[in-house]
Amino acid sequence: MSKAKQHKLTVLVTGGLGYIGAHTVVGLIESGYKVVIVDNLYNADKSVLNKIEQITGVMPVFYPVDINNESALGLVFKAHEIYAVMHFAAYKAVGESVTKPLSYYLNNVAGSMVLLKVMKEYKVYNIVFSSSATVYGSPDSVPVAETARINPASPYGWSKVMIEQVLADIYRAEANWNIAILRYFNPIGAHPSGLIGENPRGIPNNLLPYIMQVASGRLPHLRVFGNDYATKDGTGVRDYIHVLDLVSGHIRALEYFMQTPHQLAVVNLGTGVGYSVLEVIETFKQASGRDIPYQIVARRDGDVAEYYADPSLAKKLYNWQAQYNLHDMCRDSWNYQA
Ligand code: UFG
Repeated sequence: MSKAKQHKLTVLVTGGLGYIGAHTVVGLIESGYKVVIVDNLYNADKSVLNKIEQITGVMPVFYPVDINNESALGLVFKAHEIYAVMHFAAYKAVGESVTKPLSYYLNNVAGSMVLLKVMKEYKVYNIVFSSSATVYGSPDSVPVAETARINPASPYGWSKVMIEQVLADIYRAEANWNIAILRYFNPIGAHPSGLIGENPRGIPNNLLPYIMQVASGRLPHLRVFGNDYATKDGTGVRDYIHVLDLVSGHIRALEYFMQTPHQLAVVNLGTGVGYSVLEVIETFKQASGRDIPYQIVARRDGDVAEYYADPSLAKKLYNWQAQYNLHDMCRDSWNYQA
């Protein structure tokens, strides 16, 4: 029996009804943790709570609270004996962050500062932070290790860098913190039950949600942004990772706190394998049995040709590595949509 099962430790999940947050809530419950969710429902739906209950048999405690609301957040900490926080709540649209930088800094950076302040007030010193490979911007070389240059290309990316910096400074100043900064590559896939998955509002920006809408006939065709990059077939290459692999990475990060106190770990979560847009289309076609008509169009502003993770630190520190392949990811994404 794991430590969590013996002690029923409580984990507060901010953004726990969002795409990655909800999958993590399921994983935490299945690993024996108690979960408290705070989510302001900006980009999530309350019905996800029932889906989590359907999957796990447990209805987690939920507060419709914005992390920027210090007094409301304080009441949540007062009501529960929280062992650790997993912090997902954030705005995440790269393009939107360029046109609305202040909202991104207020929501992501200022919101995180409020959260950390309240954590400190209630003596909760364990946090797993949802960062992104976007902090590397256009990397000088691949695979990208955690030591690579930090060079984000958008306010969204900078918001993640700023929070990482604050966490590192807190860690250096105060001996009792345990901090994991997890830099995700490109999360896709969904829970195999088909009950929870990624559900973007409006026309999707990201590749997989767009492909799914083409596969289901809601959008006529995919636009492939450029086929003249210096990559295997000219289209952009990314490290797609199944959301369930991210979840196990978070749980390993939490267990690592228990084994090795006073940690600041900055860790990539990726598979270490890069796939091109055309390879994703082909794999999705096989996994779904649907055709994906596409057109090659001009490059998208701000896109990087190629990046994929060096995931060796996660293996070394957490004994973690991704288990799912691209076919699994496409199958589970499609299963959620279909
Ligand atoms: N692409 C297309 N057509 C589309 C959408 C995407 O060809 O309609 C291509 C892109 O050009 C790129 C690849 O598919 O080559 C992946 O694009 P995504 O938009 O799915 O993902 P990005 O790599 O651009 O960005 C994602 C998240 C960011 C995050 C980053 C971290 O959107 O939030 O990964 O690695 F910061």
